[in-house]
Amino acid sequence: MMSQIILVTGASAGFGQNICQTLVEKGYKVIGAARRYEKLQRIQEELGEQFYPLQMDVSQPEQVDKALASLPVGWQEIDVLVNNAGLALGLDPAFEASFEDWQTMINTNIIGLTYVTRKILPTMVSRNQGHVINIGSTAGTVPYPGGNVYGATKAYVKQFSQNLRADLAGTRIRVTNIEPGLCGGTEFSNVRFKGDDDRATKLYDGAGSIQPEDIANTVLWALEQPAHVNISRIEIVPVSQTFGPQPIDRTLWNDDSLL
Ligand SMILES: NC(=O)c1ccc[n+]([C@@H]2O[C@H](COP(=O)([O-])OP(=O)(O)OC[C@H]3O[C@@H](n4cnc5c(N)ncnc54)[C@H](OP(=O)(O)O)[C@@H]3O)[C@@H](O)[C@H]2O)c1
Repeated sequence: MMSQIILVTGASAGFGQNICQTLVEKGYKVIGAARRYEKLQRIQEELGEQFYPLQMDVSQPEQVDKALASLPVGWQEIDVLVNNAGLALGLDPAFEASFEDWQTMINTNIIGLTYVTRKILPTMVSRNQGHVINIGSTAGTVPYPGGNVYGATKAYVKQFSQNLRADLAGTRIRVTNIEPGLCGGTEFSNVRFKGDDDRATKLYDGAGSIQPEDIANTVLWALEQPAHVNISRIEIVPVSQTFGPQPIDRTLWNDDSLL
């Protein structure tokens, strides 16, 4: 059987880079897309000809069109799409957060993911084979202070994944949403805190967080299930991350006039 072609967005760092490495080692042909082309070229030097570097900003539909149209023969029929490119920016409350940051998150995590999926899906449907693997987040289910738009974009990714399944009824195309919790070893928090690397490092201190290879192994596992199995959602968190009670503010109504 010819080796399957997998497009991984956000391949220049973090989960995406590790997913590419894991899949190439397993014999897949992997297209790694991101904005930083030099990083992708370095990854190609390590992974060799089974890896194809593709410069593409997912939030720019014309760039996506051009990049996908530029794929050479032998790389055009994408069997698996891993929608991993995404980011969180800031952790400020909604009444102080930067609207520009919100737009960037929406344009990347929602519009970008949706546009790339819309581009690739018809070729999967026409061949009646394929797998869309989205990287969501526990933030799409569990609210937290400062998660405002980031969490909302990941809630979108979760619902979009499930609605795709509804539209793909009667096809062999699979859709999976992988929802990680606290993960270290990526640039995620360095990006979120805009280069405040100390703050980013502190977040993971003593937490034994999930590592990129854990996510890559999860992607591989979902992908390598028998063709009749659809893994719909996976939540994956470090053992150190659990749930707490919902906070109740006891200062707000202690003025009798308010009761
Ligand atoms: N780390 C966590 O704790 C965590 C938890 C749950 C979910 N996630 C999700 O997992 C995914 C990967 O995160 P990560 O932790 O691996 O972060 P990361 O190390 O910052 O990697 C993000 C990747 O996305 C790419 N990217 C960002 N904007 C892009 C755009 N407009 N077009 C194309 N590529 C873009 C970046 O490459 P360029 O800058 O070169 O474009 C980079 O390769 C994200 O969707 C994130 O929301 C992360």
